[in-house]
Amino acid sequence: MEYNIVKNAKEIINNSSFVVKNPTNYKNKWHDLFHNHNKIYLELGTGRGEMIINMAKKFPNINFIGLELNENQIATAAQKLNSTNLNNIKLIHDDARNIINIFGKEIDTIYLTFSEPWPKRIDEKNRFTHESYLKLYDRIFKKDKHIILKTDNKGLFAYSLQTLSQYWYVFDVVSLDLHNDERNITNIMTDFEIQYYKEKRPIYYVDATFKE
Ligand SMILES: C[S@@+](CC[C@H](N)C(=O)[O-])C[C@H]1O[C@@H](n2cnc3c(N)ncnc32)[C@H](O)[C@@H]1O
Repeated sequence: MEYNIVKNAKEIINNSSFVVKNPTNYKNKWHDLFHNHNKIYLELGTGRGEMIINMAKKFPNINFIGLELNENQIATAAQKLNSTNLNNIKLIHDDARNIINIFGKEIDTIYLTFSEPWPKRIDEKNRFTHESYLKLYDRIFKKDKHIILKTDNKGLFAYSLQTLSQYWYVFDVVSLDLHNDERNITNIMTDFEIQYYKEKRPIYYVDATFKE
């Protein structure tokens, strides 16, 4: 899928009340920002925010945060949000590597959706389910750890099942074909997923937890 270049992306980001500027200032204060103590779900690499915005509409009693590195993507997500009056969603323009500077132990669920697979062994450390990332997640989960991962990439999926289980996560749901799964798994599609769904590509899904 091509990434669109957004004219005035920087300006859109700066002017959006949905994009939190200086997010490190809110470490341990995200509930204050949302003015409630509802759960916080974080999507890493949120892209144009398609899934997280629709989740925020559907689940008003959950707070959502979409974090994205790419300026054009986050500007598009911000533009979509400008036509809503949602108060349970925020966007962060930053690198996922920086999450421990942005969050304390405040996050209930992390979504990893169609993350880059980084297929070469040399790039393994960039995969969002590499052990170094799982260690970062430990530092921002409020209590129980909960990761939901969706991908069309078999290699990344197999790798993630391995790293998660080696890290003592257990799998509440695993699906090798989310959209044709008889269990009717609750799901809201991302931008990439909509495209892959049209192409009838199977989507791999895992809902993983670690409870103390
Ligand atoms: C393949 S896209 C998927 C976007 C969206 N989740 C979807 O499914 O439509 C992966 C996204 O992750 C973002 N990304 C990659 N590495 C990142 C990082 N280290 N921190 C934050 N975002 C990152 C990319 O910019 C890109 O928008």
